[in-house]
Amino acid sequence: MSTSAQNKRVTILGGPNLGRLGLREPAIYGRTTWEELGELCRNWGQGLGLDVDFLQEDSEGALVLLVHQAADNADGIIFNAAAYTHTSVAIRDAVAAVEIPVVEIHLTNPTAREEFRQTNLLAGVIQAGVFGFGINGYRLALQGMAELLSR
Ligand code: DQA
Repeated sequence: MSTSAQNKRVTILGGPNLGRLGLREPAIYGRTTWEELGELCRNWGQGLGLDVDFLQEDSEGALVLLVHQAADNADGIIFNAAAYTHTSVAIRDAVAAVEIPVVEIHLTNPTAREEFRQTNLLAGVIQAGVFGFGINGYRLALQGMAELLSR
């Protein structure tokens, strides 16, 4: 992968069960694997002048740590906190403390789904969100992030 000193650095974070993308409920989340999505995101990022770090953790504390690390090392974060979106005050507080832009992403549109997905603890602390476009949403989120970072 080619990188450039001028490129901005974007960390894409995935929460619990996203490592099983492609195998996990494919009728809802599609058949693209997390690894394939990572490759797509790195390529889309390069086209936009963004170096992409693509990371996933299943546990809450590990995700909090990745948010801290991204806050220190990246210019922006694209974050699919998956189920923790609806439950985690710790992740909400980690995102609230970040000064770089954080774009929330979901493959599906959680507000059109079950009642328990209607709570979004991140909603008040993110800069922008992309919901319901499947894996293509990651391309849209990278485009949006490139614009945010060029301002
Ligand atoms: C999800 C939506 C969440 O409600 C769910 O828990 C996930 C995936 C999405 O990308 O659509 O794990 O974040």
